[in-house]
Amino acid sequence: MLIVLISTCLTLMTSVVSSRSKFSFNDPDSEHYWPPSEFLLSDTDIVNRAVKELHSIDVAMDLNECISCKMRLQVAKFLSLTRRDLVPLVFSTWCIEAGHDESQCHMNYGFPSPEYSSTGNDFTTVVSLMGPEGFDGDYFCYYHDPACHILPEPPVIDLQNLWPPKPKVYEAPDHRGISFNVLHISDVNIQLDYELLAESNCSQSLCCSSQSYNTEKLPPGFDYSLIHNPDSGLSFYDSSYAKGHFEKGQYIDQYSSKYPTWSPAHEFGSYRCDTPPLLFNNTMQTIRDFHQNHLDFEFAIFTGGTVDHSDRIFIDKSLVLSSQEFVYRGFQHFLPNVDFHPAIGTRDIFPLNQLPQGILSESSLNYQWQFDFLSDLWQELGWIDLETAKQIRYSHFGYSTVTRRGLKIISLNSNVWNTKNLYAFWDVLSVDSFGVWQFLIDELIHSEINEQRVWIIAHLPVSHQSLPIPTEVFTQIVERFSPKVIAAIFFGHIHRDEFNILYGGNGRDTKELEDMINFALIGPSISPYSGVNPAWRYYSVDEGSFSIVDSYTYFTKLNSTFANEGAEPLWEFAYSARDAYDPESLWPSERCLDTEWWHHVGEKIRDIPEFRNSFKVFEYRNSPFTPISQESEENCTVSDSESYCKVSSFTVQLRKLCMLTQDQDNYVSPFTPIDYTPYIKPFESIQYIGVVDTGDLGNSEQESYISEAESYDHDKEDNNKTSNANLRKSGSLRDVVHRNSRLIVSELRRLR
Ligand SMILES: *[C@@H]1O[C@H](CO)[C@@H](O)[C@H](O)[C@H]1NC(C)=O
Ligand SMILES: *[C@@H]1O[C@H](CO)[C@@H](O)[C@H](O)[C@H]1NC(C)=O
Ligand SMILES: *[C@@H]1O[C@H](CO)[C@@H](O)[C@H](O)[C@H]1NC(C)=O
Ligand SMILES: *[C@@H]1O[C@H](CO)[C@@H](O)[C@H](O)[C@H]1NC(C)=O
Ligand SMILES: *[C@@H]1O[C@H](CO)[C@@H](O)[C@H](O)[C@H]1NC(C)=O
Repeated sequence: MLIVLISTCLTLMTSVVSSRSKFSFNDPDSEHYWPPSEFLLSDTDIVNRAVKELHSIDVAMDLNECISCKMRLQVAKFLSLTRRDLVPLVFSTWCIEAGHDESQCHMNYGFPSPEYSSTGNDFTTVVSLMGPEGFDGDYFCYYHDPACHILPEPPVIDLQNLWPPKPKVYEAPDHRGISFNVLHISDVNIQLDYELLAESNCSQSLCCSSQSYNTEKLPPGFDYSLIHNPDSGLSFYDSSYAKGHFEKGQYIDQYSSKYPTWSPAHEFGSYRCDTPPLLFNNTMQTIRDFHQNHLDFEFAIFTGGTVDHSDRIFIDKSLVLSSQEFVYRGFQHFLPNVDFHPAIGTRDIFPLNQLPQGILSESSLNYQWQFDFLSDLWQELGWIDLETAKQIRYSHFGYSTVTRRGLKIISLNSNVWNTKNLYAFWDVLSVDSFGVWQFLIDELIHSEINEQRVWIIAHLPVSHQSLPIPTEVFTQIVERFSPKVIAAIFFGHIHRDEFNILYGGNGRDTKELEDMINFALIGPSISPYSGVNPAWRYYSVDEGSFSIVDSYTYFTKLNSTFANEGAEPLWEFAYSARDAYDPESLWPSERCLDTEWWHHVGEKIRDIPEFRNSFKVFEYRNSPFTPISQESEENCTVSDSESYCKVSSFTVQLRKLCMLTQDQDNYVSPFTPIDYTPYIKPFESIQYIGVVDTGDLGNSEQESYISEAESYDHDKEDNNKTSNANLRKSGSLRDVVHRNSRLIVSELRRLR
């Protein structure tokens, strides 16, 4: 393999180096003789040879998928160091010729443009920095090449020297017994192009826009209005809150649409679409009424998610900006006297999911506009002061702020651990290339010294789509500062209402009471996308300890708005965590919902079908997609472990481990054993310890254990689910793809 690698690089080197003939030495007798320029490779030849090289790697019989992927990265790296301008062209050409989805090839490798969210520049930068042959390559290929299923064993990380030893007595402070209310909103994902009567049963990843359509023709005689009882009145009304209150609009004839639809998009939304502005306004107005009537929110946390779930090809920079502006101004409009503490979502940036490290000053500057925008906007809305604005503007990875009562809120940018952030694949073993962990530790030590309590908020839970090393670092930090300093952790992103308990026990994985460390609450989404009912919640919070006394969730049955004559959705109280999981009130009323409480709830979900059912109903807020019907109450082994694994695992790795031991049938063994385990101490050079055969380790997993419900992942962009067939409208996928192909062809022509 080494020989192949060297010859790959040599082939390229000859071509690339020789094209720089200006500096050649022309004396044929000199040892530095370079051939005259007419024999040199043109740019077209370089592109062609590089693409050919990539294809040769693909067909090499003696390489497995992961090694092929790493070799392609070698080619990319060499090219990026010599002719970085050619990397997007070479890789999109190779990708399309290799038969991958054309639009996704452009999104991954194509020329970046404000018109769509492609990451060719980011790929080029990252690949020029990374070590394709080592851990960087292993991780990149595992997470970004669907054919590669081997991940090296996660390294052992030792952070002990980053903080003073944990004091022996480290209890959470006492409760005062008086509480105040905090609002938690998550994942609005505003769909600005939501269109009444558009196809809501479409073949693309997000429906209900003018571009949505179903690849299957309607059967003759199909009539949507026959599905719902026509007497109850379908809700195709063009309503609005533009005048500050609900005004039912005109009825729009469902047959007026130019194209027949399987399921015309309703007034207030649909389960395969994101939040229409009308639903957002209705939700915010409802929350405002609760706030004014009796709930009196002291402040709000927002765990991110402003941009809709369209495929990357439909997302441009102006949409990313206008979605954020719409949502944040909307919060302020409806709740002008409630300060919001937002966390930036993984998709709330353009290109989506990206975040360069601050030390990559050039790349970081390319994204500066995003942080300038947010720090200006949040300051204008009165939520942050100048100091915090500066932190947001210049750190990019998060900020901390202190509420009027002295609670510290630390908001982290979860693209740091997002597997879709290409920059996270550069120097993966360096532990803190973003500087975020040092920031977090400093903040926590400061709070520890000052007897201050802390909430941590972020968008992406470390139990989903998260890289193992940052996840492990975060987990160790949480362990060090729990339970005394960290009072609560909040996430969003997955749309489902869940919680994750963190257990210690050094890999013993016993999940016993004495091993519990802390827990995270995952807020339900406003957006119904992925089959959930819109929901939001508030917490009653103890004034002294800032621990959570109870959590109250509200929801609306979206399907009841499909045939209700266009009336406003009814918001209902869903549940109080205390009442739902402890109906007999056995938990002492003076105790908060601490880790021990969630530990007992987890065990009830594991052992008692009624609680397991409640958990699932809460997860989906009793939408028609609640995965509960397949499970009879006595006979439900598979789903048993699934819900328990979800709530009792803090990280992706632990959840997989849990699923694997509970249900070995879903386990697919890796193709080859993995041959090294690195041991990381921050600020020391990396050692590779011996060669261990970990071929039988449960945690070198494949993604395929994911269950039905889980696989309805709402970040569809890396999947090939978007149809690349014809779309009707301009600005459509087809147009963009054609534009791109033309770009490539003309680029090639220009080069010839
Ligand atoms: C991606 O989609 C295209 C077009 O629908 C299809 O031809 C191709 O096989 C798909 N690729 C994968 C990996 O599913
Ligand atoms: C939503 O509310 C905003 C602020 O009042 C308003 O400008 C906008 O027109 C409303 N949109 C709809 C669809 O109700
Ligand atoms: C959605 O479309 C599919 C065809 O793509 C069809 O089989 C299914 O019945 C439709 N469902 C609804 C609710 O319209
Ligand atoms: C909405 O969905 C729920 C859950 O499937 C169901 O119980 C309810 O009857 C539905 N409501 C309407 C109006 O269809
Ligand atoms: C579940 O019930 C079905 C039908 O009653 C039965 O065939 C199956 O063996 C049961 N599964 C388990 C794991 O008990």
